[in-house]
Amino acid sequence: MSNPLELEDRPRVLVVDDEKFIRDILADFLGLEGYFVRTASDGVSALDVLHASRFDVVISDLKMPRMGGIELLEAIPRISPNTLTIIMTGFGTVETAIEAMKRGAYDYVLKPFKMDEVIHIVRRGIDKQRLAAENLRLKEAVSLYSVSEAISASLSLEEILETIGQLAVQEMKADVVTIWLEDRKGGFVERHSRMGNRLQFGGQLHIDVIVQHLMNDQNIVAHGTSSERYFASTPDSPIVSLLVVPLKVTRRLLGWIALVSTNHTVRFDEGHRKLFSIIGARAAAAIENAKLYEELQGTFQQTIHGLAKAIDKMDRYTSGHSDRVALYATFLANKLGLSEDVVAVVNQSALMHDIGKIGCVLNLNKPGTLTQEEYEVFKKHPQYGKDILEPIKFLHPLIPGVQLHHERWDGKGYPLGLRGTEIPLIARIIAVADAYDAMTSNRAYRRALPQDVAIGEIERCAGTQFDPEAALAFIEGIDEFMANRKKLRG
Ligand SMILES: [Fe+2]
Repeated sequence: MSNPLELEDRPRVLVVDDEKFIRDILADFLGLEGYFVRTASDGVSALDVLHASRFDVVISDLKMPRMGGIELLEAIPRISPNTLTIIMTGFGTVETAIEAMKRGAYDYVLKPFKMDEVIHIVRRGIDKQRLAAENLRLKEAVSLYSVSEAISASLSLEEILETIGQLAVQEMKADVVTIWLEDRKGGFVERHSRMGNRLQFGGQLHIDVIVQHLMNDQNIVAHGTSSERYFASTPDSPIVSLLVVPLKVTRRLLGWIALVSTNHTVRFDEGHRKLFSIIGARAAAAIENAKLYEELQGTFQQTIHGLAKAIDKMDRYTSGHSDRVALYATFLANKLGLSEDVVAVVNQSALMHDIGKIGCVLNLNKPGTLTQEEYEVFKKHPQYGKDILEPIKFLHPLIPGVQLHHERWDGKGYPLGLRGTEIPLIARIIAVADAYDAMTSNRAYRRALPQDVAIGEIERCAGTQFDPEAALAFIEGIDEFMANRKKLRG
């Protein structure tokens, strides 16, 4: 038996004539030439056939009952824009045939015709169509290539999935795209889906069959009923074409991208399969990278939080101080309109700002204030913080915030005595957040100050201790921020 895919890929011709003899003879000859042929006895039934499936070429008689060749010719582009129409006509109606060409017919055949001539015209038409499809594909390939570059450059999983979804809908004309990735339990879960022109689509992928197929083979291209092995569609959402490409890194299946077409003008073929396989391979590597990056970020955050806890444990009076300073500093960085990346560094630097206390051999739990001597040791903590972070390369971006959070706008701070904008903005932000938390928490030597007193103090020291712009932005937004936070925490 021949391979069903080969049968599926044969050029498809629809013969339309009211004379059964002509239909049969054309069907026989074209069938012998390797074409897939269907017949219809007039324009109306031809349109029914075209609604149900795709054809490369329609050969139609001009004069038929119900609907003639010209009317059919005009209706075809609306249903199947890529189908070529060849008109058959008798000697007496050559002018009509020429008129048909003007209205978009690909060519015409005069009756009585020689079979060779018909076959020649059909073959020429199919070749022309394939060439046009290849040109189109080349264009698609170029835009797909630039998108795949963008996918490779991204480290955000959400962004990668979004880009693939857009690409499948816009360039591949898929009606539905669904991307599945492995979950933590050894199964697969849908991570992204997008609809093209459709608003709704029913049905379900047969996960086990798909996984088995993708593990053994490369990818899946199926049409009509043969796609039901992989996808249980609902009667109101029948599938025309299905394309599934694996997301594989070495031999490991990370997931897959499935494209569904419910429209007869979009039928995924070998060219689509090849193009989207390239995207799949690129995407798989990018997804793996993004996941590793996310894990690395997670580990980084956990490490920093762990260290922040360790710092706060040294001093029972400052329990939770690092977390709260990070919270206020992040609020202030956002309020000042800093970019997401800078806000992240502000957050992490604030969590770490007091890490240098680890280097101060002091009893921070003793009641009362520090002696002058103890205070001199304590004042070294920002510099110690820098020394602790220095050997750890990935913590280097946190050094400015840690080393310089006790600098003052008027230059009277420590350890370097920098002034104004000589002090990095990150450190100026942490200075405000640090002072606010210190004032609103209990200390060994005093009770927490009320919020409005602390805010008044920040305002009083704007332009001397604090960067005036940062201090004013803090005062402006802190009440609302605290109120929202309270609401969120119930
Ligand atoms: Fe400090």
